[in-house]
Amino acid sequence: MAKLKVYEYPHPVLKKKAEKVSVVDDELRAFMDDMLETMYDSNGCGLAAPQVGVSKRIVVIDIAREDEEPSPMYLVNPEIIWKSEETEICEEGCLSLPEMRAEVERPASVKIHYLDYDGRECELLAEDFLAVAAQHELDHLDGILYIDHLSRLKRQMLVKKLENSRKKRG
Ligand code: NI
Repeated sequence: MAKLKVYEYPHPVLKKKAEKVSVVDDELRAFMDDMLETMYDSNGCGLAAPQVGVSKRIVVIDIAREDEEPSPMYLVNPEIIWKSEETEICEEGCLSLPEMRAEVERPASVKIHYLDYDGRECELLAEDFLAVAAQHELDHLDGILYIDHLSRLKRQMLVKKLENSRKKRG
């Protein structure tokens, strides 16, 4: 396994609509293993392929807490097939916008159709924090970042803060 480079805002790959995966094979599984390792290494709970510069519809998620067993999920070509009318507001962060967080409102639960690690067709009802993580990561596949859900003013403030923290990091 290998750790991959995480691309940060405003890299153009993050704004691109990702392409469907045609086949889940060993090469793709090796890439998903690398994505997972990269996510764990960065203490993230989700990562989408465009964030490592690969414009394909692949997401890895693990929302287990540190004191719990890891429970990785691999979503290939994921599609939201149902959204609840009820919404919830949750604070989100993103490895492509390091150190930043903001509250985002999204449907409280979603149903997702996807292919798993072995290429099998699956359906998942995501609720609570898994619903947040899944929607955040699926957005990445369409070139949408969580800051795109904020008002223009809030987005500008967050981007300014990100630029300042980068200057400090050097
Ligand atoms: Ni993200």
